Amino acid sequence: MILISGGAGFIGSNFVHHLIRKTSDSVVNIDALTYAGNLRNLADLDEANRHVFLHGDIRDAQLLRDTLTRYRPKAIINFAAESHVDRSIAGPQDFVHTNVLGTFQLLSAAKDYWTALNNQERDQFRFIHISTDEVYGTLHVNDAPFTERHAYSPNSPYAATKAASDHLVRSYFHTYGFPAITTNCSNNYGARQFPEKLIPLCINNALTGKSIPIYGDGNQIRDWLYVDDHCAAIQATLEQGTPGEVYNIGGWNEKTNLEVVSAVCGILDNQKPRVDGRSYADQITFVRDRPGHDRRYAIDASKIEREIGWRPAETFDTGIRKTVQWYLDNQAWVADVTSGAYRQWINKQYADN
Ligand code: NAD
Ligand code: DAU
Repeated sequence: MILISGGAGFIGSNFVHHLIRKTSDSVVNIDALTYAGNLRNLADLDEANRHVFLHGDIRDAQLLRDTLTRYRPKAIINFAAESHVDRSIAGPQDFVHTNVLGTFQLLSAAKDYWTALNNQERDQFRFIHISTDEVYGTLHVNDAPFTERHAYSPNSPYAATKAASDHLVRSYFHTYGFPAITTNCSNNYGARQFPEKLIPLCINNALTGKSIPIYGDGNQIRDWLYVDDHCAAIQATLEQGTPGEVYNIGGWNEKTNLEVVSAVCGILDNQKPRVDGRSYADQITFVRDRPGHDRRYAIDASKIEREIGWRPAETFDTGIRKTVQWYLDNQAWVADVTSGAYRQWINKQYADN
C-alpha cells in the first residue's frame, strides 16, 4: 500500500494512474478536493482496481494517524499543495496553511508511524516530498541550470512555502533519521492540468475565442517536463532513491513562454483550424507582467540520471502534441472544471488587461 496526498490534482492523479498501471501496489489517496482537485481525474478507479479515495485534509492529524494505522503504507508521497504562483500573489494564506503546516502534519504523523514499525519495515519505508525548482529562485540567461547544490532563494509566496516545506523534510532526515527524499522538478505539462496554468489556459482560451495572455515580454524561460516522464522519475526515486538525498527532475526542454504558446497555436491550427482560417496566434495579447516574475528556471537533471538511471522519454515536440490532443479529446473535462469558481478567478486575475 502506498499513501498519496493530493492525488486528485494534476500530477498526483497522473501518478496514481501510473502506479496502478505499472505496479501491483494499492493506493490510498487523501485529497481535500480544493478547486484544483477533481474526482473526475480518478473516475475510472475504485477499490476493485486498488485505489481507495479519502476526502480529507493533510492538516488533519487525527485523519492521518487513523489512515496510517488502518492501511499501513510502505511509502508516502506528498503531492498535496496549493500550486499556482498567481494565486499565491493574490492570497498567500492558503499556501502557508497547506504547504507549510500541512507538510508538517504529514511529516509528524509519518515519523510517529515509522518509529513504531519493525526493523525491516522501517528500513524499507520511504517518504517522498514533491517540490519545485522555484525554490532556487531565478537564473540569468547564461547561468548554469540549477543543481541540487544551488542555494535556496524563493521569490514568490508559493516558492517560499515550498522552500519551508523542503527545509522541514530535510530536518526530519537529519534530526530523526526519517527516510525522506525531496524531488525538485520543473514545469509539468500534460493531461488533466488545471486551466489556470499557461499551457491549458492557452489551449482553452484559443478554442473559446478569448485572448491568450502573455505576461510582460513573453521571453521568460521555463524547463518543460512531460507529466508521464515525471511520474516515471518519481517511481524510480521511490524504488532506488537514497534517503536524505534531493533529486532535481527536468525535461531538458528550455523554452520561452512565447515559444510554448506559439507551438500550441501551431498544433491547434492543424488539428482544429479556426473557422475564419486565421491562426490562433492572432489571439496572443501581451498583458501586465506577474509581480516578481522569475526570468528563467532550468534544471540540471544529471544526478537522477547518474544515480537512478532516469531520463525523460519525451521531447517538447512529442509531449506538447499529446497534451493538445488530450484537451481536444476531453472538452467535457474542461467544461466541468471551468464552470463556477474558475470564472471568478479568471475575471479577477485578468481584469486590468
Ligand atoms: P494541483 O494544484 O493540480 O493539485 C494539488 C492537489 O492537492 C489538489 O487535488 C488539491 O485538492 C490537493 N490539496 C490541496 N490542499 C490540500 C490539503 N490541505 N490536503 C489535502 N489535499 C490538498 O497541483 P499539481 O500541479 O498536481 O502539483 C502537485 C505537486 O507538485 C505540488 O506539491 C506542487 O508544488 C508540485 N509541483 C508542481 C509542478 C507543476 O508544474 N505543476 C512543478 C513542480 C512542482
Ligand atoms: O517551475 C515549477 C512550477 O511551475 C511549479 O512549482 C508550479 O506549481 C507551477 O504552477 C509552475 O509555475 P509557473 O509560474 O512557472 O507556471 P504557470 O503555468 O503559471 O506560468 C508559466 C509561465 O507562463 C510563467 O513565466 C508565467 C507565464 N504566464 C502564465 C500565465 C498563467 C503567462 O505569460 N500568462 C499567463 O496567463
